[in-house]
This record gives sequence, C-alpha cells and structure tokens, in this order.
Amino acid sequence: MITLNRRQFLATSAAFSGLSASTGFAGTPFATLTAQQSDVQLLPGNYGKTSLWCFDGGSPGPEIRVAQGGRVQRRLVNRFSQGTSTHWHGIRIDNAMDGVSGLTQDVVQPEETFDYDFTVPDAGTYWYHAHNRSFEQVGRGLYGALIVEEAEPLDIDREEVLILDDWLIDPETAQIKDDFGAPHDLSHAGRIGNLLTTNGTFNLGLSARKNERLRLRLINAANARNFQLGLEGLDGWAVALDGMPLAAPIKVTEPMILAPAQRIDLIVDVVADVGETAHILQFGREEAFSQVTFEVVEWGSKNRRDAPLALPPNDHRMVDLSEATMLSLSMEGGAMGRMRSASLGGELKPIGEIVEAGYFWSFNGKVDGINGDPLARLDRGQNVRLKIVNDTAFPHAMHLHGIHFHEVAENGTLGPLRDTTLLERGQTREIAFVADNPGQWLLHCHMLSHAASGMMTKIVVG
Ligand code: C2O
Ligand code: CU
Repeated sequence: MITLNRRQFLATSAAFSGLSASTGFAGTPFATLTAQQSDVQLLPGNYGKTSLWCFDGGSPGPEIRVAQGGRVQRRLVNRFSQGTSTHWHGIRIDNAMDGVSGLTQDVVQPEETFDYDFTVPDAGTYWYHAHNRSFEQVGRGLYGALIVEEAEPLDIDREEVLILDDWLIDPETAQIKDDFGAPHDLSHAGRIGNLLTTNGTFNLGLSARKNERLRLRLINAANARNFQLGLEGLDGWAVALDGMPLAAPIKVTEPMILAPAQRIDLIVDVVADVGETAHILQFGREEAFSQVTFEVVEWGSKNRRDAPLALPPNDHRMVDLSEATMLSLSMEGGAMGRMRSASLGGELKPIGEIVEAGYFWSFNGKVDGINGDPLARLDRGQNVRLKIVNDTAFPHAMHLHGIHFHEVAENGTLGPLRDTTLLERGQTREIAFVADNPGQWLLHCHMLSHAASGMMTKIVVG
C-alpha cells in the first residue's frame, strides 16, 4: 500500500513532463479547443497517471496568446461526459461571449460545439476556464492561460506563465477524489487539495541566469486555496494585479496572497549566485515550501538593471465616487455562521430546508444564484460603489464578470483595479466601478464550492 501525506507530496521531486496539445481540424474556420478526458502524469513519475478533464489533452490547456486589441476565435468542442462552456476570466468581453452556462449561453452538450469570437481590449494576464459545474470541471483541470500582450515589449529577458493549482488526490490510486460537492467543502473553506502543482507539474524546476530579469505571470487556478507566496534569491516587484497594471511597481517585501482566480504579474531579477537555486516560496501553516525552483546555471549580464518602470496603463474609465450609486451585499452562512433562514425561489425558508436543497450561503438573504433577481439593474455608464460585508467565518474571493473594479481604501481613495477581491473572515470591503459594459454579469465567490452553494448573484447593465 502506498500512502503519501502532504509533506511527502511536497518533498518528493519530479521531472518536468511536457503536456501535449493538439490543434484544430483542417477546414474549420476557428482553431478548436477540445474539452476531453485525458490521462496525465500529474504526480511524481513513480506514481500512475491521473485521469483529468483537459482542454486539448493537458491541464493547463494550451496557452492562448494575442496582441492587445486583437481577436480570439476558438471553437469549443465538447468531447467529455458533461455539458460545459468556457469563460474568459477578466476580459472586458462582449456579454454573449462570456461563457456562462445558463446565463449568457446554453450549455454545450457532449459532442456539441460553440464558437467563441471576441476582441481583447486590455493587455495583461488572464485565464479561461469551464463555467458549468465549475467546482468540479475546474477542479478536474479544465482551464488555461489567456495572455494579452502589450503593444511595446518590456525590458525583460524572458517571461514565464505560472499557473498554480492544488488537487485533491487519493495517493493510493493517483486519482482525483471524486467527492465533488461534499457538504463539508461546501460549508467550510471549500475544496482544498493535497497536491500542489505549477503548470500541471509538482515541484516545477526551471533554469535561470544570474542577473536575468524575468516577468512572471502567476495565476491561481485552485478551487479554494489562497496561495501565500514569497521570493528567495529573486528580487521582485509587483507590476499588475488581475491583468491591470499598477500605477507604480511595488517592491515585494512580504508574503503575497493570491486568492483563487487572482493573478499577479511580477518583474523579478535573479540575484542568487550561479550554482544556487532561487525559489517562489509557498508558505504553509508553519513552514515555507518551494513552489517553483529556479536553478541558476550561468551568468546572464554582469550587472543588474535599474528598478523596473510601470507597465503602460489600460484605457479605463475613471470612477466618479461622488456621483456613485451605493449598493450593498451581505454574505452570510457557512459553518459557524449566523444564517438561520434564507429566501429560495422567493420564499423564506428555515436553514434546515435551505441546507436540504444544497445551499449553505446567502447573498442579501437569498440563495437563488444565477436564476434569481439581480443584485442591481444599472444604467450603462452608471458609477457604482458596492459595499461587501463578509459576515461569515471564512475568506471569500469575490469575482465580478465583464467589468474591472477598484478596491476602495479605508480613507476613500481608489485602490488597484481588480476583477477578484479577497475578503477575509469578518471583513468589509467597498469596490467601485463604472458599469460601462452592457449585459448580465455574474458576481460570485471564486471559492467554487461556495459559488455552487449560494454565493452567486448577477448585475444587469443597460
Ligand atoms: Cu473565473 Cu465566474 O469565473
Ligand atoms: Cu466563498
């Protein structure tokens, strides 16, 4: 019998195994993106392969890379057992292309296809993922990176796209534990995995050169884990959050928290010496583990560069806080929470019946999710301030589709633009945005088990 605890998962090393990607059928107008079941070497090589749900045979799926202002055209082909659809997370997209099953499109049934065709207004680091039964489909591997390049290349030596995930694996079988939707996950912190990977590889190892400057595009694809990251042997600056450039680079001096669905772009200089290793560290409860290793194999340049400049800003309409409509969202429920009743299908029901129906969380006292009344109907161009109160005992990563928002600082100033904001237990945060993209936009927790059990609403613009 093989048993493998989390520590051993993290301590065993594995060689990088490249994941294959297939391309489209000849004669079709769009390159295809095929959702299918594939057996992938996810665990270290002495374990068996793991059956995943993948785009084009790998998880992550193929990297989609396009110039700012360019067009993405992909034919989703569904070759697995459930209906699906693809959401382009963080893109200020045409609503019909947002990929939400049951809201912006019909679910794409097995053996059916759907053509996605949209332009990308903003440069930055984005991702795509399944958006039907996301808590299971993303948890089984249906996601990939979507990179939108700036018009002007940056002053860097190279870049790495690094997609972080954690998987819940049964080490005896090397298979994903199939208890998706387990009530404990739904009602607590979500589905937390026991195998941490980067780009589908445990202990990803890369090589680097001394004084080399890299751009790292980090993406958290995990269902529920907040990664706490640090740098060792790398001197770094954060330059963008959720795709959107920061006004000025921020030197990395303390652990960075990357909540599910969030991205951070770093510029890092390799300061470890030749023969040493640099790391992206991931902080556990008591100690730090290496998430990605950079082996410094030779000298790059003799000297370090000057501190990096800010990335060019994306063209974004400024929010006018003084003109803004105030909205509020109260998040309740979960284990150790205060929810005693909630409204389901327009009827107030006691918590027992709510739980019986599979819900554990409510937004403003309702659990109707995608089918319920919207949180708000807004005019196009309306300025909005939304106060979100996390009245629960768990952290939540709130994501708004189709529109980036500012986090509003305590002193009322506008913080960075984001598409996903982390609220710690008991925390209140205000966000502000201009509702300039017409359509029906989901607002939900990106701890995907929470979204599936009540933490979902929408706003309607125009
Ligand atoms: Cu990345 Cu509705 O999600
Ligand atoms: Cu949540």
